[in-house]
Amino acid sequence: MQVNQSRQRGSWGAGCSLSTFLLLSLCLQQVWVLNPPPVTRGLQSAFSASRSSSVLGGKQRAVTFNRLMVNIGGDFNPDSGFFRCRVAGAYYFSFSVGKFPKKILSVILVKNGEEVQAIAYDDYRKKGRKVQSQSVMVSLKEMDTVWLLVQQSPQYALYSNMGPYITFSGYLVYPQTSYISNHLSSSTERPHCPPHTEQRPRSAFSVARTSTLLGQSHLQQLKPALTFDVEYVNIGGHFNRSSGVFTCSFPGAYYFAFTVGKHPRKAVSVKLMTGQGDVQAMVFDEDTSKRREMQSQSLLLSLSRGDTVWLYSQQDERYAVYSNQGRYTTFSGFMVYPETHMVHPETHMVHPETHMVHPETHMVHPETHMVHPETHSTSASSTQDRTHL
Ligand SMILES: *[C@@H]1O[C@H](CO)[C@@H](O)[C@H](O)[C@H]1NC(C)=O
Repeated sequence: MQVNQSRQRGSWGAGCSLSTFLLLSLCLQQVWVLNPPPVTRGLQSAFSASRSSSVLGGKQRAVTFNRLMVNIGGDFNPDSGFFRCRVAGAYYFSFSVGKFPKKILSVILVKNGEEVQAIAYDDYRKKGRKVQSQSVMVSLKEMDTVWLLVQQSPQYALYSNMGPYITFSGYLVYPQTSYISNHLSSSTERPHCPPHTEQRPRSAFSVARTSTLLGQSHLQQLKPALTFDVEYVNIGGHFNRSSGVFTCSFPGAYYFAFTVGKHPRKAVSVKLMTGQGDVQAMVFDEDTSKRREMQSQSLLLSLSRGDTVWLYSQQDERYAVYSNQGRYTTFSGFMVYPETHMVHPETHMVHPETHMVHPETHMVHPETHMVHPETHSTSASSTQDRTHL
C-alpha cells in the first residue's frame, strides 16, 4: 500500500504529491497508533521539491530548492539540492525547468561528482518562457548522490517564479534485494506487514541514446524501433536495447516516459507504439528553426504477457531525433501494479477487472487538490508577467 502510493506520486508528477503525502501521513499515523511502525517503512524513499525563483548561470553549480512537498526518509537536502541514497536500489527521477527569456537552458541530472545521467536543454534565445522536462531511472548504491547541475556561464539561466516552473522529484521504485536481506531480518517481521517487495514481480528499464537518428525515406515501410546505447537499469531484462523493444513478462499496469531531442532544422515526431504499430502516445514539433530543444511524454498502459512497447521516430528526411553525450533522448518504463491475479491468484478469474478500480478511485483526491495550485500559479504568473514586460 505505502510502496504503491509512492509509485503513484512519481508517476503522476509533483502536482498530486502533496495530497498523496497527506493521505500517506494519515495512513502512517494510524499504523503508529495501532502498531509499531512496519519494518518495510525503512525501504521507502521519496522526495519532491520546487523552486520559486530563477537561477542565473555562474552563481551556483547545483539547483537548490525552497519548497519541499515530500521527503520520505529525509534523503533530499533542499539547501544543497543533493539527494543522498540511503537505501540502495533503482530510483526514478524526474525534473522540469523553466527557460529564462533570451538565455540558454541546460540542466544535467548528475550522479556523484558530475557523472552525466540526462539533460534538459533549450537554446531558443528569444524572449519567451517555456518548461522542459526529463526523467530517467538510475541504479544507486548507498551514499551515491544525485543532483541537478547548472551550466557555469552567464549565457545560461533557469526561470521560475511563484508558479513555480522548477521541480525535482525522485523515489525508490525497487530496493536492491541484498539491501532488504541485510537490513531486515526475518525475526523483525510482523504478521500485518505487507509482503516484501522482493516477492513481487519486478520489471523496469531506463535507456538513453548518445547519438542522433536522422529520418530516411527508404525505410518508411518498416517502422523500425528507436534503439538505445546506454542502459541505466534493465530489471528483469525485459528491454532489448539493440532492437529497442520492451516485452512484457508480468501482466500489469506499467508507466512509460520518454523524452526526445529536436534536431536543428528538422522536425520531431516520435510515437510510443504497442504490438504491430498501435500508436499510444506521441510527441511532435514541426518547427524547423535551428534551435535544439526537447519534447516529453508519459502514460500508463495495461499490458499482458508478450505485449511489446517501443518508440518509433518518423522515417522521413524532414524528421530526426537529436542526442549526444548529454543524453537528450531517453526512454523508461516500469511496472506500477502487477495484475490482480499476481497477488491473489484465486480471485483473478472471478473479477478480472477489479485491479482497474483502485487506480481510478485514487485519482479523485489528487484531482480535486489540483484546483488550488493551478489557480494560485495563474495569479502569481500574471504578477510576474508585469515585472518582466
Ligand atoms: C535483441 O534484439 C536483437 C536485434 O533484433 C536480436 O538479434 C537479439 O536476439 C535480441 N535479444 C534477445 C535476448 O532477445
